[in-house]
Amino acid sequence: MANAIFDHAAEILRENDRGTYTVPTHGLYPFQWNWDSCLTAIGQAHINEDRAWTEIDTLFDHQWDDGMVPHIVFHQHDDGYFPGPDVWQTHRPTPTSGITQPPVAGFAVRRIFDMAKDRDMARARAGALLPKIAAWHDWFFRSRDPQGTGLVAIIHPWESGRDNSVDWDAAFERVPTKGVLPFVRRDTQHANPDHRPTQAQYERYIYLVQLFRGLNWDNSKLHDASPFQVVDPGFNAILLRSCADLADLADTLDQPGIAAQARAHLARGLAAMETLWSDAQGQYLCLDRTLGTLIQSPSIGGLLATFAAIPQHRAAAIGTRLTTLGEKVTYLVPSHDPDAAEFDSLRYWRGPVWLIVNYMIADGLQQAGQGDVAARIVADSIALIEKSGFAEYYDPTDGTPCGGGRFTWTAAMVIEFLAQAGR
Ligand code: DGY
Repeated sequence: MANAIFDHAAEILRENDRGTYTVPTHGLYPFQWNWDSCLTAIGQAHINEDRAWTEIDTLFDHQWDDGMVPHIVFHQHDDGYFPGPDVWQTHRPTPTSGITQPPVAGFAVRRIFDMAKDRDMARARAGALLPKIAAWHDWFFRSRDPQGTGLVAIIHPWESGRDNSVDWDAAFERVPTKGVLPFVRRDTQHANPDHRPTQAQYERYIYLVQLFRGLNWDNSKLHDASPFQVVDPGFNAILLRSCADLADLADTLDQPGIAAQARAHLARGLAAMETLWSDAQGQYLCLDRTLGTLIQSPSIGGLLATFAAIPQHRAAAIGTRLTTLGEKVTYLVPSHDPDAAEFDSLRYWRGPVWLIVNYMIADGLQQAGQGDVAARIVADSIALIEKSGFAEYYDPTDGTPCGGGRFTWTAAMVIEFLAQAGR
């Protein structure tokens, strides 16, 4: 069975491979997405190390001069996606979007480096990527934490990767829609509209794009100009984990300046993370930076915090919370608490299970000595594949496959889960 699943996953990676980058899925997402690519490369590394390094190299070939790595690279023309390059207008040699995505590259590069059999290639390829990743991290702390709090804000829900999470609802209400130019969505032509964000959310997504475009994508202005500034514990945990992995790799590859800077970011960030903890919710919460208040929304963002080296007692509390959640659903980890009024088992990030998040949470729990909960998450993830195939996401109550099909990062994560289950 495991072999058949592996072969199927490898086939999906091949099918979505465009030579030097991989599309998340045919139709719905026809370009290169930032965190999709980094997580995809981890799966590719089990099959072809050279190809895995190329996936990440290609992404960083499109890094901006200020250090930002954009969330989409539009390698080729495709009318099947909205918003395309004509909306973003970033004026890059190869068009890109103008916002970023969860910075998982540092983690991915270390993971691929650690498992690489071709050590010479790994040293050369990782060594060349380290300064680029470091520049991206420095950009984050400069441009998305201008007050130096230790944690970075997202300024658009698409940056979080959790586009329509309940976490953003209240802050998003303050984003106006006046002046949004008419548009036609394409996502709902590829996927069930009931599984996707709403039209009202799309209008606000586009309002923010138009606002930032009007500021010429100048990252020294965007953070303060944005009516949406949210500090997401999951997003920051990914950044801090990448800082830790970057530091370790930089030690190994003799780049001490990068190691020292990454450890400084890490220490400040981990200390600041504590300000997001809620005893009442038993997890971390998002901070609405505009208002200065925590957002009382029990989402997966606060559980993903365990991907970073948070204190042991916090990881244990998250383990307990996950065990409780596991009694409410068939498949861990729901992206929102099923007891909350806003929970929607089918709609994108308002309830469904995502295997990439399962992977990161399981990894964090494992590191923190919470092996039992991690094992349940891995088992549930493999069970979902057996039941419903390689979907974009799944209903946590009955495993219904949702969103796009034959999904690249789902396949990549399954390859990793199988490797872990085999150990
Ligand atoms: C989409 O188009 O749904 C993406 O999540 C935005 O990057």
